[in-house]
Amino acid sequence: MTKTFININQLVQVREPEQNILRGAMMADVPTMENAWLTVEDGLIHNYGSMENFQPEEGTEIVDLKGRMVTPTFVDSHTHLVFAEDRDEEFVMKIKGMDYQSIAEAGGGILNSARKLQQTDINTLTERAAQRLKEAIAAGTGAIEIKSGYGLTMESEIKMLQVISQLSEQFPIPIKATFLGAHAFPTADHEKYMNTMIQEMLPEIYSQQLADYIDCFCEDGYYSVQQMERILEAGEKFDLKPKVHVNQFNSIGGIEKAIEYGALSVDHLEVLTDDEINLLKDSDTIPVALPGCSFFIRIPYTPGRKIIDNGLPLVIASDFNPGSAPSFNLSLANSLAAVHMGLLPEEAFNATTFNAAFALELEAETGSITKGKRANFIVAKAGKNLNSISYNFGVDWIDSVFINGEKYE
Ligand code: NIG
Ligand code: FE
Repeated sequence: MTKTFININQLVQVREPEQNILRGAMMADVPTMENAWLTVEDGLIHNYGSMENFQPEEGTEIVDLKGRMVTPTFVDSHTHLVFAEDRDEEFVMKIKGMDYQSIAEAGGGILNSARKLQQTDINTLTERAAQRLKEAIAAGTGAIEIKSGYGLTMESEIKMLQVISQLSEQFPIPIKATFLGAHAFPTADHEKYMNTMIQEMLPEIYSQQLADYIDCFCEDGYYSVQQMERILEAGEKFDLKPKVHVNQFNSIGGIEKAIEYGALSVDHLEVLTDDEINLLKDSDTIPVALPGCSFFIRIPYTPGRKIIDNGLPLVIASDFNPGSAPSFNLSLANSLAAVHMGLLPEEAFNATTFNAAFALELEAETGSITKGKRANFIVAKAGKNLNSISYNFGVDWIDSVFINGEKYE
Protein backbone atom coordinates (compact mmCIF):
# COMPACT_ATOMS: atom_id res chain seq x y z
CA MET A 1 0.00 0.00 0.00
CA THR A 2 1.16 3.52 -0.74
CA LYS A 3 1.29 6.46 1.63
CA THR A 4 0.96 10.01 0.33
CA PHE A 5 2.31 12.99 2.24
CA ILE A 6 0.49 16.15 1.18
CA ASN A 7 0.78 19.90 1.76
CA ILE A 8 4.57 19.94 1.96
CA ASN A 9 5.44 23.64 1.67
CA GLN A 10 8.99 22.83 0.54
CA LEU A 11 10.19 19.45 -0.68
CA VAL A 12 13.94 19.89 -0.38
CA GLN A 13 16.76 18.19 -2.31
CA VAL A 14 14.63 16.79 -5.14
CA ARG A 15 16.95 15.24 -7.70
CA GLU A 16 16.89 12.97 -10.72
CA PRO A 17 18.66 9.61 -10.31
CA GLU A 18 22.27 9.07 -11.30
CA GLN A 19 23.42 12.60 -10.75
CA ASN A 20 27.08 12.83 -9.79
CA ILE A 21 28.64 14.27 -6.64
CA LEU A 22 28.33 18.07 -6.42
CA ARG A 23 31.54 20.02 -6.90
CA GLY A 24 32.41 23.69 -6.44
CA ALA A 25 29.65 26.16 -7.36
CA MET A 26 27.15 23.32 -7.83
CA MET A 27 27.12 22.89 -4.07
CA ALA A 28 25.26 26.19 -3.59
CA ASP A 29 22.11 24.80 -5.17
CA VAL A 30 19.55 22.64 -3.36
CA PRO A 31 16.68 21.94 -5.79
CA THR A 32 13.40 22.50 -3.97
CA MET A 33 9.80 21.97 -5.01
CA GLU A 34 7.23 24.30 -3.44
CA ASN A 35 3.79 23.10 -2.32
CA ALA A 36 4.32 19.43 -3.01
CA TRP A 37 3.15 15.88 -2.34
CA LEU A 38 5.28 12.77 -1.92
CA THR A 39 4.28 9.11 -2.26
CA VAL A 40 6.01 6.21 -0.56
CA GLU A 41 5.68 2.56 -1.56
CA ASP A 42 7.48 -0.46 -0.05
CA GLY A 43 9.72 1.86 1.94
CA LEU A 44 10.91 3.70 -1.17
CA ILE A 45 10.16 7.09 -2.67
CA HIS A 46 7.62 6.30 -5.34
CA ASN A 47 6.66 9.68 -6.75
CA TYR A 48 6.26 13.38 -6.02
CA GLY A 49 4.60 16.37 -7.59
CA SER A 50 2.89 19.71 -7.13
CA MET A 51 -0.26 20.07 -5.00
CA GLU A 52 -1.74 22.17 -7.82
CA ASN A 53 -2.57 19.10 -9.88
CA PHE A 54 -2.79 16.59 -7.03
CA GLN A 55 -5.01 13.55 -7.64
CA PRO A 56 -4.86 11.03 -4.77
CA GLU A 57 -4.23 7.48 -5.94
CA GLU A 58 -7.04 5.14 -5.01
CA GLY A 59 -6.49 3.42 -1.65
CA THR A 60 -3.48 5.49 -0.65
CA GLU A 61 -3.14 6.57 2.98
CA ILE A 62 -3.02 10.37 3.19
CA VAL A 63 -0.76 12.13 5.70
CA ASP A 64 -1.32 15.90 5.82
CA LEU A 65 1.92 17.73 6.69
CA LYS A 66 0.09 21.08 6.95
CA GLY A 67 2.63 23.27 5.22
CA ARG A 68 5.85 21.92 6.68
CA MET A 69 9.22 21.34 5.00
CA VAL A 70 10.46 17.85 4.10
CA THR A 71 14.16 17.10 3.58
CA PRO A 72 16.08 13.86 3.09
CA THR A 73 17.73 12.52 6.25
CA PHE A 74 21.41 13.22 6.85
CA VAL A 75 24.17 10.77 5.95
CA ASP A 76 26.94 10.55 8.55
CA SER A 77 30.00 9.20 6.73
CA HIS A 78 32.46 9.21 9.65
CA THR A 79 31.70 8.08 13.22
CA HIS A 80 33.20 6.10 16.07
CA LEU A 81 29.79 5.34 17.57
CA VAL A 82 30.82 2.07 19.26
CA PHE A 83 32.66 2.79 22.50
CA ALA A 84 32.41 1.68 26.12
CA GLU A 85 32.13 4.96 27.99
CA ASP A 86 32.22 8.72 27.66
CA ARG A 87 35.49 10.53 28.42
CA ASP A 88 33.97 13.58 30.04
CA GLU A 89 36.81 13.68 32.62
CA GLU A 90 39.20 14.47 29.75
CA PHE A 91 36.87 17.26 28.72
CA VAL A 92 37.33 18.81 32.14
CA MET A 93 41.14 18.42 31.84
CA LYS A 94 40.89 20.25 28.54
CA ILE A 95 38.91 23.10 30.06
CA LYS A 96 41.64 23.40 32.67
CA GLY A 97 44.15 23.94 29.91
CA MET A 98 45.50 20.63 28.62
CA ASP A 99 45.48 20.01 24.88
CA TYR A 100 44.35 16.84 23.02
CA GLN A 101 47.85 15.46 22.63
CA SER A 102 48.94 16.09 26.25
CA ILE A 103 45.74 14.41 27.48
CA ALA A 104 46.62 11.38 25.36
CA GLU A 105 50.16 11.36 26.81
CA ALA A 106 48.68 11.49 30.35
CA GLY A 107 46.80 8.19 29.82
CA GLY A 108 43.70 9.62 28.18
CA GLY A 109 42.80 9.56 24.52
CA ILE A 110 42.30 6.58 22.25
CA LEU A 111 44.18 4.20 24.61
CA ASN A 112 41.83 5.17 27.45
CA SER A 113 38.84 4.19 25.29
CA ALA A 114 40.63 0.98 24.26
CA ARG A 115 41.24 -0.08 27.88
CA LYS A 116 37.57 0.48 28.68
CA LEU A 117 36.33 -1.29 25.58
CA GLN A 118 38.54 -4.33 26.11
CA GLN A 119 36.88 -4.80 29.53
CA THR A 120 33.31 -4.47 28.24
CA ASP A 121 31.40 -7.45 26.89
CA ILE A 122 29.84 -7.50 23.44
CA ASN A 123 26.22 -7.30 24.62
CA THR A 124 26.85 -4.27 26.82
CA LEU A 125 28.70 -2.57 23.97
CA THR A 126 25.88 -3.31 21.55
CA GLU A 127 23.24 -1.98 23.96
CA ARG A 128 25.13 1.25 24.55
CA ALA A 129 25.84 1.78 20.88
CA ALA A 130 22.22 1.02 19.99
CA GLN A 131 21.02 3.70 22.39
CA ARG A 132 23.30 6.27 20.75
CA LEU A 133 22.24 5.18 17.29
CA LYS A 134 18.56 5.59 18.17
CA GLU A 135 19.29 9.12 19.33
CA ALA A 136 21.30 9.84 16.17
CA ILE A 137 18.40 8.71 13.98
CA ALA A 138 15.99 10.86 15.99
CA ALA A 139 18.39 13.75 15.30
CA GLY A 140 17.99 13.14 11.56
CA THR A 141 20.69 10.64 10.57
CA GLY A 142 19.34 8.11 8.07
CA ALA A 143 22.57 6.31 7.06
CA ILE A 144 25.85 5.99 8.92
CA GLU A 145 29.42 4.72 8.90
CA ILE A 146 30.88 3.28 12.11
CA LYS A 147 34.56 2.50 12.73
CA SER A 148 36.38 0.04 14.93
CA GLY A 149 39.61 1.32 16.47
CA TYR A 150 38.98 1.26 20.20
CA GLY A 151 39.79 -2.45 20.42
CA LEU A 152 43.46 -2.51 19.41
CA THR A 153 43.74 -6.26 20.07
CA MET A 154 42.65 -9.07 17.76
CA GLU A 155 39.83 -10.01 20.12
CA SER A 156 38.52 -6.51 20.76
CA GLU A 157 38.77 -5.22 17.18
CA ILE A 158 36.73 -8.22 16.03
CA LYS A 159 34.32 -7.62 18.93
CA MET A 160 33.79 -4.01 17.84
CA LEU A 161 33.14 -5.01 14.25
CA GLN A 162 30.70 -7.66 15.42
CA VAL A 163 28.86 -4.97 17.39
CA ILE A 164 28.57 -2.93 14.19
CA SER A 165 27.31 -5.99 12.35
CA GLN A 166 24.66 -6.57 15.04
CA LEU A 167 23.58 -2.95 14.76
CA SER A 168 23.17 -3.44 10.99
CA GLU A 169 20.81 -6.31 11.69
CA GLN A 170 18.84 -4.46 14.36
CA PHE A 171 18.45 -1.09 12.68
CA PRO A 172 16.46 -0.11 9.60
CA ILE A 173 19.08 2.27 8.15
CA PRO A 174 22.16 1.50 6.00
CA ILE A 175 25.28 1.04 8.14
CA LYS A 176 28.81 0.77 6.73
CA ALA A 177 31.64 -0.68 8.83
CA THR A 178 35.24 0.51 8.70
CA PHE A 179 38.22 -1.34 10.17
CA LEU A 180 40.38 1.18 12.06
CA GLY A 181 42.79 -1.13 13.85
CA ALA A 182 45.43 1.47 12.93
CA HIS A 183 43.94 4.11 15.22
CA ALA A 184 46.81 4.09 17.75
CA PHE A 185 49.58 1.69 18.77
CA PRO A 186 48.55 -0.31 21.87
CA THR A 187 52.17 -0.96 22.95
CA ALA A 188 55.68 0.24 22.15
CA ASP A 189 56.25 -2.77 19.88
CA HIS A 190 54.83 -1.23 16.72
CA GLU A 191 56.12 -3.93 14.41
CA LYS A 192 54.35 -6.63 16.37
CA TYR A 193 51.01 -4.81 16.23
CA MET A 194 51.42 -4.09 12.50
CA ASN A 195 51.89 -7.83 11.95
CA THR A 196 48.87 -8.67 14.12
CA MET A 197 46.69 -6.35 12.05
CA ILE A 198 47.97 -7.56 8.72
CA GLN A 199 48.39 -11.27 9.37
CA GLU A 200 45.63 -11.96 11.90
CA MET A 201 42.94 -9.29 12.03
CA LEU A 202 42.50 -8.67 8.30
CA PRO A 203 42.09 -12.34 7.29
CA GLU A 204 39.56 -12.85 10.11
CA ILE A 205 37.64 -9.70 9.19
CA TYR A 206 37.55 -10.89 5.61
CA SER A 207 36.38 -14.38 6.48
CA GLN A 208 33.55 -13.01 8.65
CA GLN A 209 32.86 -10.16 6.15
CA LEU A 210 32.92 -7.62 8.96
CA ALA A 211 34.16 -4.49 7.16
CA ASP A 212 33.46 -2.40 4.08
CA TYR A 213 36.43 -0.02 4.37
CA ILE A 214 39.86 0.33 5.94
CA ASP A 215 41.05 3.38 7.88
CA CYS A 216 44.31 4.56 9.44
CA PHE A 217 45.12 7.55 11.65
CA CYS A 218 48.07 8.93 9.68
CA GLU A 219 49.63 11.56 11.93
CA ASP A 220 52.82 12.40 13.83
CA GLY A 221 52.84 10.24 16.95
CA TYR A 222 50.35 7.74 15.45
CA TYR A 223 50.88 6.07 12.04
CA SER A 224 53.55 7.23 9.61
CA VAL A 225 52.86 7.41 5.89
CA GLN A 226 54.94 4.26 5.40
CA GLN A 227 52.96 2.40 8.05
CA MET A 228 49.68 3.56 6.52
CA GLU A 229 50.89 2.35 3.15
CA ARG A 230 51.50 -1.14 4.54
CA ILE A 231 48.02 -1.20 6.06
CA LEU A 232 46.30 0.06 2.92
CA GLU A 233 48.21 -2.40 0.77
CA ALA A 234 47.15 -5.26 3.05
CA GLY A 235 43.56 -3.96 3.05
CA GLU A 236 43.56 -3.93 -0.75
CA LYS A 237 44.18 -7.70 -0.79
CA PHE A 238 40.98 -8.12 1.20
CA ASP A 239 38.91 -5.76 -0.99
CA LEU A 240 38.83 -2.96 1.58
CA LYS A 241 38.86 0.52 0.08
CA PRO A 242 40.54 3.21 2.19
CA LYS A 243 38.77 6.02 4.04
CA VAL A 244 41.46 7.59 6.17
CA HIS A 245 42.18 10.06 8.98
CA VAL A 246 44.77 12.46 7.58
CA ASN A 247 46.03 16.03 8.14
CA GLN A 248 44.31 16.56 11.49
CA PHE A 249 47.34 18.26 13.05
CA ASN A 250 50.08 18.02 10.42
CA SER A 251 50.52 17.54 6.71
CA ILE A 252 52.92 14.58 6.50
CA GLY A 253 52.05 13.18 3.07
CA GLY A 254 49.03 11.07 3.99
CA ILE A 255 46.72 12.63 1.41
CA GLU A 256 49.06 11.87 -1.48
CA LYS A 257 49.49 8.27 -0.35
CA ALA A 258 45.75 7.78 0.25
CA ILE A 259 44.98 9.04 -3.26
CA GLU A 260 47.59 6.65 -4.65
CA TYR A 261 45.67 3.80 -2.99
CA GLY A 262 42.35 4.97 -4.44
CA ALA A 263 40.89 6.20 -1.15
CA LEU A 264 37.16 6.84 -1.27
CA SER A 265 37.65 9.74 1.14
CA VAL A 266 40.27 11.63 3.13
CA ASP A 267 38.87 12.88 6.42
CA HIS A 268 39.82 15.72 8.82
CA LEU A 269 42.07 17.99 6.66
CA GLU A 270 42.26 20.74 9.28
CA VAL A 271 45.75 21.35 7.88
CA LEU A 272 45.64 21.38 4.08
CA THR A 273 48.27 22.73 1.66
CA ASP A 274 47.67 24.16 -1.81
CA ASP A 275 49.61 21.25 -3.29
CA GLU A 276 47.27 18.83 -1.56
CA ILE A 277 44.23 20.70 -2.91
CA ASN A 278 45.71 20.26 -6.38
CA LEU A 279 46.27 16.55 -5.82
CA LEU A 280 42.63 16.19 -4.75
CA LYS A 281 41.52 18.00 -7.91
CA ASP A 282 43.22 15.33 -10.02
CA SER A 283 41.58 12.47 -8.10
CA ASP A 284 38.21 10.95 -7.26
CA THR A 285 39.00 10.98 -3.54
CA ILE A 286 36.40 12.94 -1.57
CA PRO A 287 37.47 15.53 1.05
CA VAL A 288 35.54 15.16 4.33
CA ALA A 289 35.50 17.87 7.02
CA LEU A 290 34.63 17.24 10.68
CA PRO A 291 33.74 20.63 12.17
CA GLY A 292 32.49 19.12 15.46
CA CYS A 293 36.04 17.98 16.19
CA SER A 294 37.49 21.43 15.43
CA PHE A 295 34.92 23.03 17.71
CA PHE A 296 35.39 20.61 20.56
CA ILE A 297 39.16 20.35 20.74
CA ARG A 298 39.69 23.91 19.55
CA ILE A 299 41.79 23.26 16.48
CA PRO A 300 41.53 25.03 13.11
CA TYR A 301 38.52 24.29 10.93
CA THR A 302 39.06 22.49 7.63
CA PRO A 303 39.22 25.14 4.89
CA GLY A 304 35.86 24.11 3.46
CA ARG A 305 35.28 27.40 1.67
CA LYS A 306 38.61 27.08 -0.11
CA ILE A 307 37.95 23.42 -0.98
CA ILE A 308 34.64 24.36 -2.63
CA ASP A 309 36.07 27.47 -4.32
CA ASN A 310 38.67 25.22 -5.90
CA GLY A 311 35.90 23.29 -7.61
CA LEU A 312 36.13 20.25 -5.34
CA PRO A 313 33.27 18.35 -3.72
CA LEU A 314 32.95 18.58 0.08
CA VAL A 315 31.39 16.23 2.61
CA ILE A 316 30.78 17.02 6.26
CA ALA A 317 30.45 14.33 8.94
CA SER A 318 30.12 14.29 12.73
CA ASP A 319 33.23 12.26 13.73
CA PHE A 320 31.07 11.25 16.71
CA ASN A 321 33.47 9.80 19.32
CA PRO A 322 34.05 10.11 23.09
CA GLY A 323 37.32 12.04 22.80
CA SER A 324 37.33 14.69 20.11
CA ALA A 325 33.68 15.04 19.06
CA PRO A 326 31.04 13.73 21.46
CA SER A 327 28.10 14.78 19.28
CA PHE A 328 26.34 12.99 16.43
CA ASN A 329 24.22 16.04 15.68
CA LEU A 330 24.59 16.90 12.00
CA SER A 331 22.35 19.95 12.29
CA LEU A 332 24.97 21.38 14.62
CA ALA A 333 27.66 20.37 12.10
CA ASN A 334 25.71 22.42 9.51
CA SER A 335 25.82 25.44 11.84
CA LEU A 336 29.54 25.07 12.53
CA ALA A 337 30.26 24.72 8.81
CA ALA A 338 28.28 27.87 8.07
CA VAL A 339 29.64 30.00 10.89
CA HIS A 340 33.25 28.79 11.04
CA MET A 341 33.94 27.50 7.53
CA GLY A 342 31.96 30.11 5.61
CA LEU A 343 29.62 27.66 3.91
CA LEU A 344 26.17 28.71 2.73
CA PRO A 345 23.33 26.79 4.37
CA GLU A 346 22.79 25.08 1.00
CA GLU A 347 26.45 24.02 0.78
CA ALA A 348 26.45 22.65 4.32
CA PHE A 349 23.21 20.79 3.64
CA ASN A 350 24.53 19.24 0.41
CA ALA A 351 27.71 18.28 2.29
CA THR A 352 25.71 16.34 4.89
CA THR A 353 23.14 14.74 2.57
CA PHE A 354 23.61 14.31 -1.19
CA ASN A 355 27.42 14.45 -1.26
CA ALA A 356 27.77 12.51 1.98
CA ALA A 357 26.03 9.50 0.43
CA PHE A 358 28.89 9.27 -2.10
CA ALA A 359 31.43 9.05 0.74
CA LEU A 360 29.72 5.76 1.71
CA GLU A 361 28.90 4.58 -1.85
CA LEU A 362 25.22 4.85 -0.90
CA GLU A 363 24.30 7.40 -3.56
CA ALA A 364 21.87 5.01 -5.27
CA GLU A 365 20.03 4.51 -1.98
CA THR A 366 19.87 7.76 -0.05
CA GLY A 367 20.93 11.43 0.19
CA SER A 368 18.11 13.05 -1.79
CA ILE A 369 14.41 12.94 -2.61
CA THR A 370 14.71 10.76 -5.69
CA LYS A 371 12.36 8.12 -7.08
CA GLY A 372 13.56 4.68 -6.05
CA LYS A 373 15.70 5.87 -3.15
CA ARG A 374 14.77 4.94 0.41
CA ALA A 375 11.97 7.01 1.90
CA ASN A 376 14.25 8.33 4.65
CA PHE A 377 13.23 11.90 5.31
CA ILE A 378 12.76 14.57 7.95
CA VAL A 379 9.58 16.56 8.55
CA ALA A 380 10.45 19.98 9.96
CA LYS A 381 8.62 21.87 12.68
CA ALA A 382 6.21 24.52 11.47
CA GLY A 383 7.84 27.70 10.19
CA LYS A 384 11.29 26.16 9.56
CA ASN A 385 13.12 26.34 6.24
CA LEU A 386 16.50 25.20 4.91
CA ASN A 387 18.32 28.16 6.48
CA SER A 388 16.95 27.19 9.91
CA ILE A 389 19.15 24.08 9.98
CA SER A 390 22.34 26.19 10.15
CA TYR A 391 20.79 29.28 11.68
CA ASN A 392 19.06 27.85 14.77
CA PHE A 393 22.25 26.34 16.20
CA GLY A 394 21.58 23.82 18.95
CA VAL A 395 17.83 24.19 18.48
CA ASP A 396 15.78 21.23 17.33
CA TRP A 397 14.08 22.03 14.01
CA ILE A 398 12.96 18.42 13.50
CA ASP A 399 9.33 17.41 14.04
CA SER A 400 9.70 13.78 12.99
CA VAL A 401 11.98 11.39 11.11
CA PHE A 402 10.72 8.80 8.63
CA ILE A 403 12.82 5.73 7.87
CA ASN A 404 11.76 3.52 4.94
CA GLY A 405 8.49 5.48 4.91
CA GLU A 406 7.67 4.75 8.59
CA LYS A 407 7.74 7.29 11.39
CA TYR A 408 10.77 6.56 13.58
CA GLU A 409 9.68 6.33 17.22
O1 NIG B 1 38.72 11.32 14.45
N1 NIG B 1 41.85 11.49 15.23
C1 NIG B 1 41.68 10.33 15.54
N2 NIG B 1 40.57 9.74 15.99
C2 NIG B 1 39.40 10.39 16.47
C3 NIG B 1 39.52 10.76 17.90
C4 NIG B 1 39.51 9.57 18.74
C5 NIG B 1 39.55 9.81 20.22
O2 NIG B 1 40.06 10.81 20.73
O3 NIG B 1 39.05 8.90 20.86
C6 NIG B 1 39.05 11.57 15.59
O4 NIG B 1 39.10 12.75 16.00
FE1 FE C 1 37.46 10.15 13.43
